[in-house]
Amino acid sequence: MKRILVTGAFGLVGSDLVPELQKKFGPDSVVALARETVSSDFKGILEKGDVRDSKLMADLVKKHDIGEIYHLAGLLSAGGEKQPDLAWEINVDGLKHVLDLAKEHQLKVFWPSSIAAFGPSTPKQNVPQHTSLEPTTMYGVTKVTGELLCQYYFEKYGVDVRSLRYPGLNGYKAKPGDGTTEYAIHIFYGLVKDNYYECFLQADARLPMMYMDDAIKGTLALMAAPSEKITIRTSYNFAAISFTPEELYQEILKFAPDFKVEFKPDSRQKIAEGWPQTIDDSSARNDWGWKHEFDLPKMTQALYEGIKQKIN
Ligand SMILES: NC(=O)c1ccc[n+]([C@@H]2O[C@H](COP(=O)([O-])OP(=O)(O)OC[C@H]3O[C@@H](n4cnc5c(N)ncnc54)[C@H](O)[C@@H]3O)[C@@H](O)[C@H]2O)c1
Repeated sequence: MKRILVTGAFGLVGSDLVPELQKKFGPDSVVALARETVSSDFKGILEKGDVRDSKLMADLVKKHDIGEIYHLAGLLSAGGEKQPDLAWEINVDGLKHVLDLAKEHQLKVFWPSSIAAFGPSTPKQNVPQHTSLEPTTMYGVTKVTGELLCQYYFEKYGVDVRSLRYPGLNGYKAKPGDGTTEYAIHIFYGLVKDNYYECFLQADARLPMMYMDDAIKGTLALMAAPSEKITIRTSYNFAAISFTPEELYQEILKFAPDFKVEFKPDSRQKIAEGWPQTIDDSSARNDWGWKHEFDLPKMTQALYEGIKQKIN
């Protein structure tokens, strides 16, 4: 069997996706690409390099007889605003290298878009699949560009590329970064370490979110679906739950009544205000049977237990 290459393998999503792929297809079937040094307890095939290096990417495909790429490497919302040129290079040029390789070697590709592809002119509630995509962040601009590139490579060259507009994803295996939705992970570090958290979004900043297990399950289901079921080749709306920082705080207070949160919004509040609050993902549900499992209470418990164990 041909191998699977995962870029961005040690980020928030990759840290959950790689073990699932290893479980499903066997540890020898997955090649994990890291940009930086990774912890020595990783078990599996490891490569190091930069997705902007098209020669390296081509060499990896040949060396490991790659048949599928899960292309997760990227620079996210807050990082992209600090370094917009770099965000374009990693998110757009990096994706184009992957699509060019897919065209040449008939590779199947998964690439995540984001709710950051939406913008202030997108409806705030129940965003339809086909809607206005006018983001105001460089991250969002790269995601819209990426979506159109994916559709172009499918239409023009028959590349089997599939994509989901991930909402804010909440997992605990990797350290959270500085993404706009990642307060919902940091808050549990605050809870376990200090019984206090300073939240960088306003109490009422409602955003679409999803527990990581659901995201991984959906990603694998999309990739396993027969090609004829995939009617969207830009990127599928993909949703589970929507909540505000205050609602998450109230959920935590149910089992940690002394926990204190203060709301001190920073520049990420403005990013959050440009994004919708709820998403209509009926195309994903109808086309390939997407269904989420984790509601807010279930996600809260899972994150709390996971992060408590990780810290202790
Ligand atoms: N986490 C979320 O909530 C979320 C939401 C929507 C979309 N996404 C998308 O999912 C994908 C993965 O996100 P994540 O949360 O795991 O991000 P992350 O920042 O945790 O991980 C990204 C990984 O990419 C690697 N990387 C960055 N630049 C690279 C380069 N030039 N070459 C090789 N590797 C490089 C980083 O080292 C990092 O390990 C991204 O495309 C992101 O846009 C994530």
